[in-house]
Amino acid sequence: MNIAVLGSGFIARFYADSLAAQRRKDKLVSVYSRSIERAAKFATDYGLPHYSDNIAEVVGRADVDVVVIALSNELHLSAVEACAKAGKHVLCTKPLGRTGAEAKKMLELVENAGIMGGYLEDLCYTPKFLKSLASVKSGSIGRVLWAKSRETHPGPHSDWFWNLELSGGGAIVDLGCHCIEISRNFIGKDIKPVEVMCWAATQVHPIAAEDHAIGLVKYANGVIGQFEVSWCFRGGMDLRDEVMGSEGTIWLNNFLRTGFDMFSTGKGNNYVAEKAESSSGWLFPVGDEVNELGYNHMFTDMFDAIEEKREPQENFYDGYVVNCIIDAAYRSAKSRQWEPVQIDDWRGRTDVTEAHEFASYDDEFYLIKEEILPNGEKKLILKHKVSGEVVRRDL
Ligand SMILES: NC(=O)c1ccc[n+]([C@@H]2O[C@H](COP(=O)([O-])OP(=O)(O)OC[C@H]3O[C@@H](n4cnc5c(N)ncnc54)[C@H](O)[C@@H]3O)[C@@H](O)[C@H]2O)c1
Repeated sequence: MNIAVLGSGFIARFYADSLAAQRRKDKLVSVYSRSIERAAKFATDYGLPHYSDNIAEVVGRADVDVVVIALSNELHLSAVEACAKAGKHVLCTKPLGRTGAEAKKMLELVENAGIMGGYLEDLCYTPKFLKSLASVKSGSIGRVLWAKSRETHPGPHSDWFWNLELSGGGAIVDLGCHCIEISRNFIGKDIKPVEVMCWAATQVHPIAAEDHAIGLVKYANGVIGQFEVSWCFRGGMDLRDEVMGSEGTIWLNNFLRTGFDMFSTGKGNNYVAEKAESSSGWLFPVGDEVNELGYNHMFTDMFDAIEEKREPQENFYDGYVVNCIIDAAYRSAKSRQWEPVQIDDWRGRTDVTEAHEFASYDDEFYLIKEEILPNGEKKLILKHKVSGEVVRRDL
């Protein structure tokens, strides 16, 4: 694929590092930045033959097959419009929109133009996540009951994130979008998110948006997704997921505690990892951030999907559903009530109800618990299926 990037900031460089670092057949051929100097610098740094401060010129080039949107949130919709007009496949960074309504327009634009809309949700492509998801799908942890994802750090690096109108929100829209999509994958994308209860507050920064929030997303099968997000966390970037199933558990830690600990007095190269707050003392570097944050696997899936004329694992429809959940979270934070998730265009299952599957011990009893005690005794706790009586049985 020949790729154009719109934007030359923080995430544009992460994407370029992923696309340029490996021996890929896919090539970056053009970059747009509103600053021609930054476009030129980006083109020089990554060896691009073309750069411009005009989006239409970049998107419309004959040698561009696919466009990557790495612009601030308020520009995603207009950038998708430009790609749809030019008939170019488009890969958009997260969050897809600032609201569900904005994301829906983007979804309609790509579907009407017959182009692919890939949602660049990198954290659903980390090697650890992909392996966990395969385990969950193969039934290794049984029925998923709860999926939690946490992303917290000391706050974003550019002014526009802190401007409610430009960003569309605070930590929920910025970080919650990752957490919600991670839980959605574990719970099942065809299961409808029904309602959200969310606490949000502005605890530290003088901004109009929230800088800290916790939310519960209830799904049609009774499973709970939980997100914990903050721009107030000190100590780096805390990225953790947990999945609890009826037959097992998964804990993932992507940053800070990856098994790579280092001590430095502060001498030498001082980049440790994204959002690391210190380069001295005990440090937690990340081996290959581009890979461990999922960018390599993400782009491989996106380009394979275009070639194979299929949807990628993360697409604009996913981004739209995530935005609808976020909208409900904001309503809940305000109303302090469970708020329904409004998805006008639900494409998943509609036949799902809350699951209550109890393990049978035999024809007469359900099994509540089986345990070996410290003295070696084995004991069973059973419930009679008809009378409801709970009994103990020693083995
Ligand atoms: N893990 C991830 O997937 C991840 C991480 C960081 C950021 N992002 C997303 O990437 C996008 C960009 O974030 P970033 O961190 O690179 O921010 P950034 O501020 O570093 O870069 C933003 C880019 O948008 C351009 N831009 C901003 N306002 C503009 C305007 N009015 N007109 C034209 N260009 C404008 C800037 O010049 C810059 O090139 C956001 O949507 C953000 O949510 C995703």
